[in-house]
Amino acid sequence: MKSFSFAFAPMMLAALLPAPSLAAPVSIDLPQPEFTLKPGPGAETAMNDCQICHSLDYILTQPPNMGDKFWDGEVTKMIKTYGAPIPETDAKEIADYLKKNY
Ligand code: HEC
Repeated sequence: MKSFSFAFAPMMLAALLPAPSLAAPVSIDLPQPEFTLKPGPGAETAMNDCQICHSLDYILTQPPNMGDKFWDGEVTKMIKTYGAPIPETDAKEIADYLKKNY
């Protein structure tokens, strides 16, 4: 009985392990999609300040028409919670831009 389970243990382990070595090269070669914001007043500022930590898809994948409060909250959260180095004047400009366009 004992020798039976020992013989099968390595095989079962091998079956459970994923094969990352096969998947990795494929995802590395994929081109990264480029995200740009709609042109308009504040777009440049947003693209400068909001890509420091993450790509613009974080903005672009939010549902449309979330309202002023949502975007004010997002910009404030990036600065207060995540420590985004964005001056207050920029923050206002970006929030206004996002409210108008997204
Ligand atoms: C200091 C780094 C930093 C900067 C700069 C930054 N963000 Fe973020 N942002 C984050 C982090 C961290 C998350 C959460 C990531 C996660 O949940 O995977 C996030 C998530 C988001 C999300 C997704 C929704 C959410 O609340 O999690 C949105 C929208 C967003 N950021 C918008 C912005 C905008 C707009 C700006 C420019 C004003 C900005 N970010 C600048 C760090 C930053």
